[in-house]
Amino acid sequence: RPRVLSGIQPTAGSFHLGNYLGAVRQWVSLQESHDAFYMVVDLHAITVPQDPAELRANTRLAAAQLLAAGLDPERCTLFVQSHVPEHAQLAWVMNCLTGFGEASRMTQFKDKSAKQGADRASVGLFTYPVLQVADILLYQAHQVPVGEDQRQHIELTRDLAERFNGRFGETFTVPSAYILKETAKIYDLQEPSIKMSKSASTPKGLINLLDDPRTTAKKVRSAVTDTDTVIRFDPEAKPGVSNLLSIYATLTGTGIPALEEKYAGKGYGALKTDLAEVMVEFVTPFREQTQQYLDDPETLDSILAKGAEKARAVAAETLAHAYDRVGFLPAK
Ligand code: TYM
Repeated sequence: RPRVLSGIQPTAGSFHLGNYLGAVRQWVSLQESHDAFYMVVDLHAITVPQDPAELRANTRLAAAQLLAAGLDPERCTLFVQSHVPEHAQLAWVMNCLTGFGEASRMTQFKDKSAKQGADRASVGLFTYPVLQVADILLYQAHQVPVGEDQRQHIELTRDLAERFNGRFGETFTVPSAYILKETAKIYDLQEPSIKMSKSASTPKGLINLLDDPRTTAKKVRSAVTDTDTVIRFDPEAKPGVSNLLSIYATLTGTGIPALEEKYAGKGYGALKTDLAEVMVEFVTPFREQTQQYLDDPETLDSILAKGAEKARAVAAETLAHAYDRVGFLPAK
């Protein structure tokens, strides 16, 4: 079975719809066909300041949401990044192969550090993509299911895998990004020209999966569209409507042409009302199941402990191989 690996940050509150449609949904289907490794990236989270108690709670919350979304610990390996020390260890080696200029060109770093100010941004934030490289290479992943905003980090992963292999001999699988066109980028409901994200959005344009379903329905009904009236998929001319159609199509498994036909001659109100209903049907059980996992932290922690053990077996072998290639003296 080909292998996939991906990760998600333990954010405060809950995942948003972009996280789910852009990534987690694919994780759920790939666990059926692939040897799948998924993790909550707490090491990445501390590249910006975190309150310790909140970080711990958010890490459990993230794992609970992944299980509620449909990850099955019998079908995939679900773990917490900091439980597998090899991530930090391989990241160091990769840091030493990365050019300073190369790291400086990472657009997510440029955006995030610009927001924080150069003096406040941590060195960890600067090397964030290199840790992500280590995450992926440790598992010899063939594919990495992510949203469009991660593409550059996967490109860096490929470059560094090839660089390492070229310098030290074949060691790492060169992975590719697994990005579905339809959901690569879910847009803010109020500002459909920017991607949905915790930082960029006004709360009204951001669908948090654990919000009260009534709030979610309201946000969908007040989504920004355009002054035209035709329901047609045209991301250039009609970004708001097209975003709603993408979301609707993916959540219901309907093709976009079928939706265009269904809403021919109807107004935006009908589309939004129906989509609001679809959303409520999706988030209601998701919320309940997340809560069930949170109510039983012992079970949750033991799922994560088993996941870490499985992940470590793979990661330790790759790290030992990489250390040997680099020329580190084995500890006898
Ligand atoms: P993170 O936690 O920001 O986001 C998790 C996943 O959600 C996707 N995503 C979106 N997809 C479509 N539309 C959107 N509006 C949207 N917003 C977020 C992201 O692309 C991502 O796939 N650096 C990663 C975490 C990471 C990782 C890894 C991923 C760490 N190590 C190794 C893959 C492999 C991140 O911050 O994702």
